[in-house]
Amino acid sequence: MNFEPLKNCKYAVLGNPVAHSKSPQMQNAGFEFYGMGSIYGKIHVEREELAEFVEYARKNLSGFNITVPYKQDIIPFVDRISDVAKLSHSVNTVKIENGRFYATSTDGIGLATALQVHFNKEVKDLKVTFAGAGGAAQAAAWYFACNGAGSIFIANRSLAKAEQLSAELKKAFPVLECVVCELSDREKMSDFIKKSDVLIQSTSVGLKDDDGAPFELDILDGMSDLCVYDLIYKETKLLKYCRQHGIKHANGSDMLLYQGAASFEFWTNRKAPVDAMRQGLENA
Ligand code: ATR
Repeated sequence: MNFEPLKNCKYAVLGNPVAHSKSPQMQNAGFEFYGMGSIYGKIHVEREELAEFVEYARKNLSGFNITVPYKQDIIPFVDRISDVAKLSHSVNTVKIENGRFYATSTDGIGLATALQVHFNKEVKDLKVTFAGAGGAAQAAAWYFACNGAGSIFIANRSLAKAEQLSAELKKAFPVLECVVCELSDREKMSDFIKKSDVLIQSTSVGLKDDDGAPFELDILDGMSDLCVYDLIYKETKLLKYCRQHGIKHANGSDMLLYQGAASFEFWTNRKAPVDAMRQGLENA
């Protein structure tokens, strides 16, 4: 076996890179809450080792999370898949029973719970603008569409990617309002935001400390009813601007928490101890 097998672990996060992942500290706080010990590890797997990992997991694990870049690559190996994971071509959680893989994505419910907790917003009839159309936006957009969102506006640097996502969403949900524009199109972007309850920042702009903002921030001026959620886990330029201009906002750390809580419940059928898991994340 080329990847490092886990000692005493029944669960793990699979990825490449994976060293930075805080999921073990978060999930182990949950497992320890129920007296199950620290049974969640991390596994770095190269693409050519994926099939080998799958065989290892079937025999040795009870479940695993999947992070970049394998959320789509794992799909051919699963035995059953939830609708939202199938539609979004994205799996972040697998439960293993008798060697069979049951796959789902908890990214969408993680985001929806964070929006509920921070802004008291429900997905049903929600009008939402995405800045970005990458993997994270796609998983969230499909979850929103599957759960009755009213309008989905997508602004992306490359228009083609937004158009493709929109076309797939509209094919599956013909009555859904779904419109796209280029992220640099100030006029259309302003129009989307004006019509939206929530703006989800899902580009990678802001991950690095010296990054700028993904779009011209003054288009947010006067949007006193808008809620801004940045999937990045820290205060980005966008969030700083919101703080300084009295716009409701939150960073992505609670999405990580709530997707982890949903994974925990999917595996164990027990209520996730969210406070303990949050503490685990904060200690990480
Ligand atoms: P993730 O899985 O985190 O969503 P991803 O699938 O690589 O990551 O998507 C990254 C997103 O950030 C995309 O929407 C990407 O835009 P493109 O589709 O045009 O590539 C966006 N992005 C990355 N760098 C950007 C930049 N400098 N300006 C604007 N958008 C950017």
